[in-house]
Amino acid sequence: MAGLELRGVRKDFGSVAVLKGIDLSIRDGEFVVFVGPSGCGKSTLLRVIAGLEAATAGNIHIDGAEVTRTAASDRGLAMVFQSYALYPHMSVHQNMSFALENMGVPKAEIARRVDRAARMLRLTDYLHRKPGALSGGQRQRVAIGRAIVRDPKIFLFDEPLSNLDAELRVATRKELAALHAEIGGTMIYVTHDQVEAMTLADRIVVLNGGRIEQTGTPLDLYNRPANLFVAGFIGSPRMNLLPADAVRLSLGEATTVGIRPEHVQPCGEADADLTVQVDLVEQLGGETFLYTTGPNDLKVTIRIDGQSALGRGDRLPVRLRREHLHFFDAAGLACRPDTIPARSHA
Ligand SMILES: Nc1ncnc2c1ncn2[C@@H]1O[C@H](COP(=O)(O)OP(=O)(O)O)[C@@H](O)[C@H]1O
Ligand SMILES: [Mg+2]
Repeated sequence: MAGLELRGVRKDFGSVAVLKGIDLSIRDGEFVVFVGPSGCGKSTLLRVIAGLEAATAGNIHIDGAEVTRTAASDRGLAMVFQSYALYPHMSVHQNMSFALENMGVPKAEIARRVDRAARMLRLTDYLHRKPGALSGGQRQRVAIGRAIVRDPKIFLFDEPLSNLDAELRVATRKELAALHAEIGGTMIYVTHDQVEAMTLADRIVVLNGGRIEQTGTPLDLYNRPANLFVAGFIGSPRMNLLPADAVRLSLGEATTVGIRPEHVQPCGEADADLTVQVDLVEQLGGETFLYTTGPNDLKVTIRIDGQSALGRGDRLPVRLRREHLHFFDAAGLACRPDTIPARSHA
């Protein structure tokens, strides 16, 4: 397994700049997730790392050796795609062993690797089947198995769970996490789904418009988003982003105050920062989301533990928990005012 270094990586398609200068170091054994909205350049970055696209500028090192102009087949990486890309006429066993046979790996070694991968992925009983006789989840596990048997320096995953239904996605996500714990390989995983990113990653790289917005552990990004984009992208329901003057928390250079839905607390009138009116209640059983409107048409989302008897039209005094406020300046960058008023009332 190996680490990866990207320095000033750019990719243009004709006159369109898709990657605008990516600098990133990934440690040996790390599980890194690239997350960002559709079209931000995640797949392009992965394909440039894989060698399936040539970088327009910058350089790439794997395990300390420059590979910027090395052919994909010589980089020692294995990629798993959303569309499993299995050979339909081959059995599961053949799908997994095919590349190794082409590489001239001895038969006994192939058998050992395929058996081990099949065991890890619970495919042992399906080795003789053709992909057409497998469920979507099993097919994706075969695609992952095909990557494992190659014993790659780095695993690259491009939205591998997107074609699975919700339940299977969660189950396969857990299997991937267990797999990483077991084989300890360097893994780079692309998704547009921030829940997948939060649950799988040692470290998340948030991409937007061909640039890295922020890199950090899932909780770093959740607790200390560096800018408005990351604040809004990580976390569901989204962080409330309120004009600072509207909540009378206008402080220094801060123009926007952010607060997550779980940090807006129902309270008595006397302690309230604002009173909101409930527009919509989502009861999830273990938690409840309230979508509300405050003064000046402020939209405020509130997360409550457990169940709530509140309904549409109810008035609710709430306080904004001071220790959980986020502040952003006019450029959208996180900032930290010197003092935070105890009360937001004028
Ligand atoms: N081969 C290509 N030729 C031209 N434009 C491309 C090509 N591949 C990707 N793009 C463009 O690059 C941008 C990023 O694409 P992509 O990396 O697939 O985004 P993501 O995976 O984040 O959804 C998109 O605007 C896409 O249209
Ligand atoms: Mg993509």
